Amino acid sequence: MNAIEDAIPSTPLPLAGRAPGKCIVFGEHAVVHGAPELVFAIDLYTQVGVRSGPRFSLNADPHAAEEHPYFRTALARRWPGGEPLEVRSTSRIPRGAGLGSSAAFCSALVAALGAARGGIDRPALAQASYDVEKGAQGVGSPGDTSTVVAGGFITINGGGGERLWSIHGSERDWEVRRVDDPGWIWVVAHSGIPRSTGDAVREVGVRLAKPDGPELLAEFARVATAGIRALEAGDRKAVAESMVWNQELLRTVGVSHPRLEALLEAARPAAEGAKLTGAGAGGSIVVLPREGQEVDLVRRLARAGGLPFVVRPSVQGTALVTEPDS
Ligand code: MEV
Repeated sequence: MNAIEDAIPSTPLPLAGRAPGKCIVFGEHAVVHGAPELVFAIDLYTQVGVRSGPRFSLNADPHAAEEHPYFRTALARRWPGGEPLEVRSTSRIPRGAGLGSSAAFCSALVAALGAARGGIDRPALAQASYDVEKGAQGVGSPGDTSTVVAGGFITINGGGGERLWSIHGSERDWEVRRVDDPGWIWVVAHSGIPRSTGDAVREVGVRLAKPDGPELLAEFARVATAGIRALEAGDRKAVAESMVWNQELLRTVGVSHPRLEALLEAARPAAEGAKLTGAGAGGSIVVLPREGQEVDLVRRLARAGGLPFVVRPSVQGTALVTEPDS
């Protein structure tokens, strides 16, 4: 599938958009400041159904159009002056777990609204989904939204794969490229600790504004570049080493958490490499298991109090789907 040519077609209401979650392998936080990132879409999805209604509502809540930041921002930017809509969102992506639930909601909703307004091509969907997520959160990079729009593995500001699109931000632009899936099994474990992406991103911004910030950011860029190269070469050992190195940096900027550290420790005997994934300060870890020790790894993580599961990369990005009841 060519992600550039595969536009979201013009479709009358009612309709539904669906977007996958994501798992960051390298570069979270640093990507906000322009460093490279490697992310893949995962086979857990958010589905957003949109139909005309007597008034705006989200999952039957009539206050959401004013109170739900992502819904409010999407309507203001992508549906100005439009007819009232009843929107229904269902998701299998755990919320606040660092697995892209907000990016998936934004992208599935923007795709649905775009389809109802004549269709939208994929680069425009990626830009609009980023604008909505950033508008609602106040901070952030387009890594999550571009991943869930593109599907598969992507890099931001790095890698040598096919260029998909560039995303324009108020302070910088980011370039998005395709990477081939190396075909490995990845295990995620959710700590159950809720966290706010916006707060974590702001705290890291404060940390990187200190005198050693530029050198730290350069180190983040080095580890992500090395990790992306290793993944492109199919070198598991080097990918795993870069994960461990990336985790050290994330610890240094203060976004690890005792529960995440306990999960990383529990994973160690069955893991080649592991690190937190997403904003941190809670949320989840991602592990590259030792080959053949996946089951042992999952047991260890569950015993340590995490919610472990195998995440499979989703080849498909954001798309329209047929809702059974639409
Ligand atoms: C959150 O999933 C990833 C962060 O890098 C924030 C962002 O890129 O928007 C922490």
